[in-house]
Amino acid sequence: MLSCLISSAFFLFLLFAGVHSENLKCKNSKCDRRADPGFGWRFGAVLILALGVSGWAALAAAATNGAPALKDVFHDDFRIGAALNDALVSGRNGRVVELVRTQFNAITPVNAMKWAVIHPRQGQYEFGPSDRFVAFGEANHMFIVGHTLVWHDQVPEWVFLDEQGLPVDREALLQRLRDHIVSVVGRYRGRVNGWDVVNEALNDDGSLRDTPWRRILGDDYIALAFEFVHQADSEAELYYNDYSLDNPAKRKGAVELIRRLQKRGIPIAAVGSQHHDTLDWPKLGEVESTFSAFAKLDVNVNITELDIDVLPAAKPNHGAEVNLHLEGQPGLNPYTNGLPESVERALAKRYADLFTVFHKHRRHISRVTFWGVTDADSWLNYWPIHGRTSYPLLFDRDGKPKPAFDAVVTTLRSK
Ligand code: GLA
Repeated sequence: MLSCLISSAFFLFLLFAGVHSENLKCKNSKCDRRADPGFGWRFGAVLILALGVSGWAALAAAATNGAPALKDVFHDDFRIGAALNDALVSGRNGRVVELVRTQFNAITPVNAMKWAVIHPRQGQYEFGPSDRFVAFGEANHMFIVGHTLVWHDQVPEWVFLDEQGLPVDREALLQRLRDHIVSVVGRYRGRVNGWDVVNEALNDDGSLRDTPWRRILGDDYIALAFEFVHQADSEAELYYNDYSLDNPAKRKGAVELIRRLQKRGIPIAAVGSQHHDTLDWPKLGEVESTFSAFAKLDVNVNITELDIDVLPAAKPNHGAEVNLHLEGQPGLNPYTNGLPESVERALAKRYADLFTVFHKHRRHISRVTFWGVTDADSWLNYWPIHGRTSYPLLFDRDGKPKPAFDAVVTTLRSK
C-alpha cells in the first residue's frame, strides 16, 4: 500500500509540475517555477488530495485484494446487499466497513429496527442505531431496507400486555401497532426505500403461525400492517419476508397470502425469500419454482438473508426458527482450524449454482442480500448451537474473498 501511495504522489507531482510549467511557458518566457509564489501551497494541496485519493483507493483494493465488486458485476441484474450490525455502521470495524462500501449497494439492519431495539418500552423510542444505519446508507448511496415491523420474535412483552399484565384487547393492540408504524416508517419516509413489513408469519405447512399478533388482532393483522405502512409512506416498497419458501407447502401458503393481500389492494412489491441454505437444500428446481410461482402474481422474489451452512446438520429440518437453541455435541463443530479444501470447493460450487439460477430469473429479482459480510459476523456461529465456527458467506474472517466469491463472479462472467 505504501508503494502505491508514494508512486501516486510522485506521478501527481510530475503531472502537476508538467502542467504548471506548460502554463508558465505561455505566460512567462523564463518558465521559472521559483518565480511563482503560489506553487508551494498549490503543490501541497494537490499532494494531500493525491494521498487522500490514492490512500482510499489502496484501502478499497486491499479490502478485497483488488477483487471486482459484486455490485458492479451484477449491476445490470440486481442489487447486492448485506445485513449490517450497529458495530459496523458505527465504524468500530473499519476494514469491514470498507468492504461494505466497495462491494455492496443495498443494506438491511440486523437488529436496529426490530421492535425490541427501536421501541423497547411503551412511549420510548431508541432511534440512535437506526438513525446511524440510515445515515450510513445515504452517505454511501445505497438502497436502504427497513427490517422488520411485525414479527413474533424480538418484540417486547409490554406490547401485548395492559397495565395489569393481562393481554391487551384488539383495539389497544391495533393502536400500538399503528403508532409504532407511524413513528418508525414516518421518521424515515422518503429515506428507507422498502420495508419488510411482516416477517415469518407462516408455519412450515403454509398455515398462519400462532402468534400474539394473530391471537389478539385476528388473521387480518398482516393486511392491516401493510396498510398502515402504505399510509405512512406511499412510496416505500412493501415486502413479506420468510424462510423455507422453496418448500412446496410453505410456498403455497405464501402465494395464497400474497393473493389475499393483493385482493385488498395492497401493492406488494416483493416476497423476501431468506435463503438460509445448506449445501444440498433447497434443490435448485424448487428455487426456480418459487420464482415462477410469484412471477404469476407479478411479484418479485428478493433473496434477503442469504448464507450457506456447511456445518453438520444439528436440527431436524431446514427451517430458520430463531427460537431453536440446541446443545453442542461432539462432531457438530468440525472445522475450528479452517475449512477443508473439499468443503471449500463444495461451497463455491453451491454458490455458483444458486447464482446461476438467480441470474436466469433476474427479471424477477431486484436484490440479493447476504445475512452478514464476513464469516466472523455470521449468526451461524451462534445458532442453533452457540460457539461453532461457521463458514457461510463469501468473505473469510479476515475479510478476504473466498473461492466461493470467485465462483460467483466467474459464473456471471460466463453468461
Ligand atoms: C431471521 C430474521 C433476521 C435474523 C435472522 C437470524 O431470519 O428475519 O432478522 O434475526 O433470523 O439472525
